[in-house]
Amino acid sequence: MTGTPRHFLNIDDFTYDELRGMLDVAVELKARLHKGDRPLLLKDKSLAMIFERQSTRTRVSFDVGMRQLGGETIILTGQEMQLSREETLEDTARVMSRYVDAIMIRILSHADLLELAGASSVPVINGLTRRGHPCQVMADLMTFEEHRGSIRGANVAWVGDSNNVLHSWVNAAELFGCTLTIAVPEEYWPEKDLMDDIRKAGSAVRLIEDPDEAVTGADLVLTDTWVSMGDTDAAERRRVLKPYRVDTNLMARAKADALFMHCLPAHRGDEVTDEVLDGPQSVVFDEAENRLHAQKAILCWAFGIETV
Ligand code: CP
Ligand code: NVA
Repeated sequence: MTGTPRHFLNIDDFTYDELRGMLDVAVELKARLHKGDRPLLLKDKSLAMIFERQSTRTRVSFDVGMRQLGGETIILTGQEMQLSREETLEDTARVMSRYVDAIMIRILSHADLLELAGASSVPVINGLTRRGHPCQVMADLMTFEEHRGSIRGANVAWVGDSNNVLHSWVNAAELFGCTLTIAVPEEYWPEKDLMDDIRKAGSAVRLIEDPDEAVTGADLVLTDTWVSMGDTDAAERRRVLKPYRVDTNLMARAKADALFMHCLPAHRGDEVTDEVLDGPQSVVFDEAENRLHAQKAILCWAFGIETV
């Protein structure tokens, strides 16, 4: 590939129009797939996936998505690569760029992701770092709009820990014109990078401590695990975050037709109760399905295909 590769690293690297274009493609590819139409848009393309951490959804949806588009995948873990014997990310990127057409990586250090992308001559896709989970938020936006129409002007509430999924939501809120109210206990308020992005988002994003206040009048309630990959203080987090569990009482403060989303995996009984997760307002399995369609659109974009 010549020129600068089309990396997909952070939501805030993009304009609204670029992300909207990808979401339109995702919706179209989903409709076509459900009719049995599988356009081979990425025939003969290969995607290498490197997982430094566990994954179910990201791994399976990228693998299946790439195959549905006519491409091929290679799934690797950092542990089985020479990365675990101190080969640099830069050398790894330069070598892999000679073999494959794109790389998707899940790696905790965002700086490491940027290092890999900086040395890669093929597109690199962020499959989750501690800083962001942009593929997830594309699927979340798609899911909200599938159920409720445009997200512009919607009230979105985030309750619980402050983490990578939240960071990508903060970046999306301003671009997509929704308001995001975040309830996180002060002990776990965001570090500088996310705080800066919250400030930058201006009136689109508000950080508070009270979950009741955040959820009141919401069109969408979001939460995620209290213990993200890389967190080491699980017992303390469970203690501090207990008042932030999303249960039916909390959901009752949101609008009557509010949706509930969670990127999964869920820790039932911690951040969300069974009643909410399996209840009528929950769209978590649509959200998980939409990872497949949103990522197919991201892959197409990475290969320069912006309409289908
Ligand atoms: N939501 C998500 O990224 O799930 P996995 O960790 O299973 O990939
Ligand atoms: N915040 C979670 C998301 C998992 C998909 C984590 O980083 O572990």
